[in-house]
Parts: sequence; C-alpha cells; structure tokens
Amino acid sequence: DFGNISMVLCSCCRRRGEGDLFHCEKGINLTHIESRPSRMNKEQFEFFISVDASCSQALDEVIDGLRTQISGHVHELSRNKQKDTVPWFPNDIQDLDRFANQILSYGSELESDHPGFTDTVYRARRKEFADIAYNYRHGQIIPRVEYTEAEKLTWGTVFKELKTLYPTHACHEHNRVFPLLEKYCGYRQDNVPQLEDVSRFLQSCTGFRLRPVAGLLSSRDFLAGLAFRVFHSTQYIRHGSEPTYTPEPDICHELLGHVPLYADSSFAQFSQEIGLASLGAPDEFIEKLATVYWFTVEFGLCKQGSEIKAYGAGLLSSFGELQYCLSDKPKILPFDPAKTSLQKYPITEFQPVYFVAESFEDAKERVRKFASTIPRPFTVRYNPYTSSIEVLDNTQQLKNLADSINSEVGKLCEALRKLD
Ligand SMILES: [Fe+2]
Repeated sequence: DFGNISMVLCSCCRRRGEGDLFHCEKGINLTHIESRPSRMNKEQFEFFISVDASCSQALDEVIDGLRTQISGHVHELSRNKQKDTVPWFPNDIQDLDRFANQILSYGSELESDHPGFTDTVYRARRKEFADIAYNYRHGQIIPRVEYTEAEKLTWGTVFKELKTLYPTHACHEHNRVFPLLEKYCGYRQDNVPQLEDVSRFLQSCTGFRLRPVAGLLSSRDFLAGLAFRVFHSTQYIRHGSEPTYTPEPDICHELLGHVPLYADSSFAQFSQEIGLASLGAPDEFIEKLATVYWFTVEFGLCKQGSEIKAYGAGLLSSFGELQYCLSDKPKILPFDPAKTSLQKYPITEFQPVYFVAESFEDAKERVRKFASTIPRPFTVRYNPYTSSIEVLDNTQQLKNLADSINSEVGKLCEALRKLD
C-alpha cells in the first residue's frame, strides 16, 4: 500500500509469466522494487521503484499522492517520454477469447466480507462456474448448468420481489420484453434461465449475445465487448444467506437487470456506441466511458411521458434501490456525458446522484458527440457481416462504406416510393 494508492498483486500477469508484479487502480504497473538502508540515516530505508505507466498524468497523481502520504523524500529519477501509441483493441469477435485469461480476480476468490467467504461448498461452486467461463471460446454453446434447489430458492426470492415493482418502476422497454423472456427463455420463479437460451433470444432481437465471464474484467476489456454486441455475463448466483444483497454482479443482476434492455434495439445501439468509443481510447477516456456506463447501463433513469422510470440494471436488480431511486431522496441531473463522466460514485451503497436521459436515441447521440472528443487518430465502425471492427483510416474503407450507405439509401427511397 503506497500511501493512499493501493496496488494489488497482479495474478493475471504472473499466470502469463509477464513482468508486471503489481497493478494500481490508475493503470500503473510496478515492474521493479528494491530497498537498502539509507546512507544518510541508518535507521531509515531507501526504496527504488520502476513503473510502467501509459498515462503521464496518472503517474503525476501517484507521485503527488506519495509525497503527501509518506513522511520521507520522493525523488523522480527519470521518465521516458511515451510514444503516442494506440492501446491494443480486438478487431475480430474471436479476439474476445483473449479476455478469458485477463480477468482481474477469479470467480472463487472472495473478499473476507463476502457472505460466502467462509462457505467452502459455495466457494467450490463458484470455482465450477469460473472454470466454465475460463474455458469458453467464441462460437461454442454456453454450457448448461443444473442449478441446485437452494440456488433456485435464492433466484425465486429475488425474482418474486422484483417482479412486483417492475410495472410501476421499470421503463416501458423492460416491461415490454419481460413477458417475452417468460414465454421463450424460462424466466420463472422456480427456474433459473440458461445463458445459452437467453443469448439466442437476444441475438434474434438485436444481435446482442452473452458470453460467460470468470471474474472481473478491466473496464477496457468489458467495454470492448459491447462494441461487438457481446455482453460478458456471470453465471453463478449470490450466496443464499442474503438473497437481497450481492457485493458483485450475479446471474440475478444480469438476467433481470441487463438482459431485458439488450433486447431493445435503441438501447442495444446506445450500449454499442459506448463500446465503439472505447476501442483504442487513452486510459483517462476509458475511465470516463466506464463512468458513463455506470450512470446509464447500470444506474440510468429515463423520461417516459411525464414520468421518470429506471432502465439501469443495478436498479432493476435491487428491490431497495429501485424504490429509492424514484423517491425524492436522491439528486436527479440531466444526462450529459461531458459532466456525467466526471461524477464520482459509491459502489457499495445507494447512489446519491442519478442522471436522466431524454430517450435512448438522445443518449446515443450525446455519447456519439462525446466520443468525437476522444483523441483517436481514426474512426471505427462495426461490420455485422464479418463480426469485426473496421478502422476507417483509408480511402478504400471509406469507399466501401459509401457503397454500403448508397445501397441502403436506394432501398429507403424505393420503399418510400412504394408507400406513396
Ligand atoms: Fe451490471
């Protein structure tokens, strides 16, 4: 713990045999550390550390943090000027397979305050789910899981409670899709739906698909999935001792909160827009986009007629917060990505601030405008026929795009003529 900046042992890098020992939340990797008794004062020690940092500003913040937090001297010996490099991003949908072993924490590694921390049976179960996701590759069928009676009971408790609130608190889009999920995907109080069935249903609605995830992904990797209309979903369920609480996303959160919205075409486009904006973006913009994601896809409110309704999955999967967010207690602000992206937020308690979108269409246009401020030397678009990202940085790419738009406009004109 370097002052107020916590660095965690980077198990993913160690597994891959790479050099980074520690990561900190600001994307700075500790690559070397050594100590020796101080020459000035034998009772003190000198530490020499080397770090890799993709963002110069973040490095300044960390050094400033050290200077204020420790009672010694901090000298910066040298700094190599960073080249303007574009961070790697997946080009093809199969490239998402790389994320499977880049998770920040494996599913069975629980914090000491997790309700299932001392439950060995639960931890073993979590490992089973994590292994499914770890071994999953694009194009495979998501393995079906036989949920235990206890797990079904937990699901049933959450399902029953939330369903009573949806008609009055959830947005139209959620309420329109929910009965379809009951009809086609086995959404029932006594049945935990299978990810494969839900993924197929989503593909038929908007082309979105689910992919099991073994643990926490970095914001960059998670957002990149959205660019391909891929949503990384957990498959395990929260600990049965506290059915109304979970410190991390679980299948109740994914299936009840996220899935109904991904079946809506406007919302799907909006989410993909955030994902596309993230590809190759500098770290500081990834943080901003992750914050925009937090206040929209996770905790967003939207106007519907004269009312305000919830569309964020964090709200739609929490009985308490779904009621709280539409009460007069929290602060409600208009959704504006430039401002929203700077808003600080708590993770483990109800949000003090929510942002209201005029509509998904409006929110999408705002995100698109915000994305144009990201310093990126190219524009990207998703090609659904090849499931790949096209980087629009040469005339041939632009000609192909113009041809494709031309053909679509031709169809539009023809359809309009026929309507006349
Ligand atoms: Fe979520």
